[in-house]
Amino acid sequence: MSITILAIESSCDDTSAAVCKDVKILANLTANQEVHKNWGGIVPELASRAHQVNIVPVVDMAIKNAGIRKEEINAVAFTRGPGLIGSLLVGVSFAKAFALALNVPLIEVNHMQAHVLAHFIDNKPKFPFLCLTVSGGHTQIVLVKDFLQMEVIGETLDDAAGEAFDKSAKLFGLSYPGGPLIDEYAKKGNPEKFHFAEPQIAELDFSFSGLKTSVLYFLQAQTKKNPKFVEENLNDLCASIQKTIIDILLKKLTKAAQKLNINEMALSGGVSANSELRTRFQELGVQNGWTTYIPKFEYCTDNAAMIAIAAHYKYLNNEFTTQAAEPLARYHI
Ligand code: KG4
Ligand code: ZN
Repeated sequence: MSITILAIESSCDDTSAAVCKDVKILANLTANQEVHKNWGGIVPELASRAHQVNIVPVVDMAIKNAGIRKEEINAVAFTRGPGLIGSLLVGVSFAKAFALALNVPLIEVNHMQAHVLAHFIDNKPKFPFLCLTVSGGHTQIVLVKDFLQMEVIGETLDDAAGEAFDKSAKLFGLSYPGGPLIDEYAKKGNPEKFHFAEPQIAELDFSFSGLKTSVLYFLQAQTKKNPKFVEENLNDLCASIQKTIIDILLKKLTKAAQKLNINEMALSGGVSANSELRTRFQELGVQNGWTTYIPKFEYCTDNAAMIAIAAHYKYLNNEFTTQAAEPLARYHI
């Protein structure tokens, strides 16, 4: 018998619904929230309200796009965490009500596990593999032993890699989210023009908050001498900060690969959309004899297809949850 799952993702600022039939994604639909653009970051209260408005039409359209009837759904999956609690509440409540109405089981999914399992939508990395998950909210190196057996072996102690991009962009006067803009300007810039200190953090953990401070002090000193410094050096500033962030990420990933003697390597999360990171990750793979995996862009950023695929493996494992399930802002793999 095949398994059809409806999955909901609402952990941050994207309202997403997907339908999978076994490991095939039949539909994956996301409503992005434009309301945060003018605020320089995500406003949690506005995010919850937008989820509330978007969730019914998004689910309705996902089911239509999948070409299934509601009665064919075998389980409803939702992101339990980690994420913004108000955003998660909307998805969790909706999933519970929908499962109750259909009289089908519920499956809770850890958002970070789902980012890793997104690789199984179109590919099949071999276990054990390492996954570098980099997004606006997370930076982790995960040792993946099996579909549902993972261990975080390195993570950020403060800001995430995406935040380092976004906060630097803000200091350069760019709008939110600044990561994709830095990517664009950096293509015309010199990555060796400016040097920002890399943090010295033990083992496989990361830290990005010091980088933001060093960019701030550097810009303050330069603009005192030349008020047009940022404007005149934007491309080089973007290329240099991008290089610094990528150097930090890839050095730790290489260290992890050597330490564990693993050569199956995967990249996921919104920052893996960065063109330079993708190129350098693949080049590093060739140099080190790694097999490298990057999901399609639509499965890198937050999406419900990855929740659906994770739920598929939980279904096979008989891992269901009850109507008492509540969201968790912090939720370890
Ligand atoms: O995974 P995601 O969509 O949402 C979170 O779970 O946070 O990641 C969003 C992050 C933002 O920080 C955004 O600036 C960054 O991914 N991002 C990029 C690029 N595209 C998205 N960062 C650098 N270069 C890009 N091309
Ligand atoms: Zn995410």
